[in-house]
Amino acid sequence: MILVLDFGSQYNQLITRRIREFGVYSELHSHRLTAEEIKEMNPKGIILSGGPHSVYDENSFRCDEGIFELGIPVLGICYGMQLMTQHFGGVVERAQQREYGKADIHVKNDASLFAETPREQAVWMSHSDKIMEAPSDFTVEATSESTPVAAMRHPEKAFYGVQFHPEVRNTVYGNELLKTFVFEACGCTGDWTMANFIDMEVDKIRNQVGDRKVLCALSGGVDSSVVAALIHKAIGDQLTCIFVDHGLLRKDEGETVMRTFRDQFQMNIIKIDAQDRFLSKLTGVSDPEQKRKIIGNEFIYVFDDEAEKIKDIDYLAQGTLYTDIVESGTETAQTIKSHHNVGGLPEDMEFELIEPLNTLFKDEVRALGTELGVPDDIVWRQPFPGPGLGIRVLGEITPQKVEIVRETDAILREEIRNAGLERDIWQFFTVLPDIQSVGVMGDARTYDYAIGIRAVTSVDGMTSDWARIPWDVLEKISTRMVNEVSHVNRVLYDVTSKPPATIEWE
Ligand code: XMP
Repeated sequence: MILVLDFGSQYNQLITRRIREFGVYSELHSHRLTAEEIKEMNPKGIILSGGPHSVYDENSFRCDEGIFELGIPVLGICYGMQLMTQHFGGVVERAQQREYGKADIHVKNDASLFAETPREQAVWMSHSDKIMEAPSDFTVEATSESTPVAAMRHPEKAFYGVQFHPEVRNTVYGNELLKTFVFEACGCTGDWTMANFIDMEVDKIRNQVGDRKVLCALSGGVDSSVVAALIHKAIGDQLTCIFVDHGLLRKDEGETVMRTFRDQFQMNIIKIDAQDRFLSKLTGVSDPEQKRKIIGNEFIYVFDDEAEKIKDIDYLAQGTLYTDIVESGTETAQTIKSHHNVGGLPEDMEFELIEPLNTLFKDEVRALGTELGVPDDIVWRQPFPGPGLGIRVLGEITPQKVEIVRETDAILREEIRNAGLERDIWQFFTVLPDIQSVGVMGDARTYDYAIGIRAVTSVDGMTSDWARIPWDVLEKISTRMVNEVSHVNRVLYDVTSKPPATIEWE
């Protein structure tokens, strides 16, 4: 295991992730761990991360300096390197200005960290203070125009420091550098797999839960499905899942969830059919934000009603990912946006949380799901908003309009799958914009709905571009929608990026 000590850089999660990509297990922990605790964890190497502080700040994050006495290789990145420099008696210059962005470094010929990589290479810098003089025991391995010590190492002990960020893709040979540290300096073997992760987590969950009970709100989305499958593997029937069908799901979604988890996994799962409850609350409401609020609140009420009926629950399982935690703010990282918990339970219900995915990224969760036997259509499910089809029927929601969206959406999904485009398009769905227009069908005039197709490419949903679905695929989709779905006589294709539009229409 490679232990990454967290000094607050926004890139920290990337370090552990890169290392896991090499087949070496890595965990991120607080810089407050003591040398004794670290010794207990027995890592093969320690990485001191970057961070927003200056080593001269009064309240700057420090680490237990005893870690340098453990005989474990250490790599300091940016702030981590400055801490090492200060500890070993080098000179860190306090700077007011930040050096941010691409920089070129020159690598010395015998630089061990840079092994086979070119002598001139581009790296990503993001720092204010810089090292003017390496500690006397260290040798300088690389320099840049503005940074006399861009990389350094202790010639006998396995201590290394780099001023730039090897975990960021813009550092062209960053992966090679991390590999050199992990494999050459630390002697890791690279045989860690998702199967090892499952074994480890199953043990952890069993130890934590003992013979007590766990409740999980299963939405059928990737995260909650994988967390349920993992916990079920660990404790079987001690897990109960609640699946709320609010009547705003995609076609067959409820059946897929039940088939997968009740029939295939043989899980204890309670399906709540709450369609009427949601629809009656939404009658007469057309404002998008009000619709969202009603659906969100009602979900919590339904979940709480059911949770209260189940006795002796001690834990609530959540599919919180690493990115959710980072966005909500950790002890060291600044808060970007607050993360909303599933099922906002009443305060007098005392659950402990189990969040076994909270060290993982989305793609790792998918790999874990596959390893656990969760079917592809769930593991690769595209993002689906909590309010479901409720925000894809623009204006007031009626059962007929939900049906039109559900049926057209099913055709779109089927044709995109048939065209082999499913994994190329990040998200695709239909919306009903509440427009009726004149058409002609057979020899008769129609006055029916137009349906919109939204299909986007994106990495994280923050920005997106409209997907270039081939004309012939669109043609087939359009023909099928007007022929097969009652009250549809026109099909529109949304060709707007985000920004200025958003992905959903409401
Ligand atoms: P927008 O429409 O803001 O969507 O460009 C970005 C991503 O977020 C999803 N989305 C939601 N997810 N509750 C959710 O859980 C919501 O209220 C919600 N609104 C949008 C959207 O599907 C897209 O993936």
